[in-house]
Amino acid sequence: MPLENQSAGKRPNLYLTGFMGTGKSSIGRELARTLNYKFIDSDRWIERDVGMKIPKIFEEHGESWFRDCERRFIEEGHPNEGCVVALGGGLVVPDGMIERVEQRGILVALFASPETVLSRTSRSKNRPLLQVENPAERIRELMAQRDPIYRRVGLAVSTDGRSFADVRDAVLRIYRFHCAGIAASKSQ
Ligand code: S3P
Repeated sequence: MPLENQSAGKRPNLYLTGFMGTGKSSIGRELARTLNYKFIDSDRWIERDVGMKIPKIFEEHGESWFRDCERRFIEEGHPNEGCVVALGGGLVVPDGMIERVEQRGILVALFASPETVLSRTSRSKNRPLLQVENPAERIRELMAQRDPIYRRVGLAVSTDGRSFADVRDAVLRIYRFHCAGIAASKSQ
């Protein structure tokens, strides 16, 4: 088991990753309600910690500074157990971050097609990486770069053409299955 914090065995954190617009926050919030866990969104934590909205952080400090904030969030910004955590879409992209997150809990990647992502993100101005002339092209490019990284996450759920409840239940089944595995490995 990759979990470094063995005390997190009973209610290990559930982390959701995936491209922007795959539904991490809305599914995560609902899962937290179902499990009676605390819901945390890494972007909101960073905004509070820095005292600026994400677009302003990118504008003032740049993307790599923001990635440092994400690393800090993983290392010291949230409890060790009992949380559902929606991760900003780029958090697992830098080398070693998937492993860092997997040491702290159960990581599930959500997937959606570029068309679905475009339709889910087109009205929001909060994602600086998509504030370009041709967001559809940008989504395809970024997705092509990141897809191999998200695919390294062992647990994956596709969201295309599935209802919200269906995705939520799929993630919940995966989470419970892995919790049972952790409990069994500890009782041996
Ligand atoms: C980003 C995703 C965003 C946010 C920031 C950068 C990314 O979060 O962290 O705009 O690099 O994919 P969401 O995935 O919640 O939109």
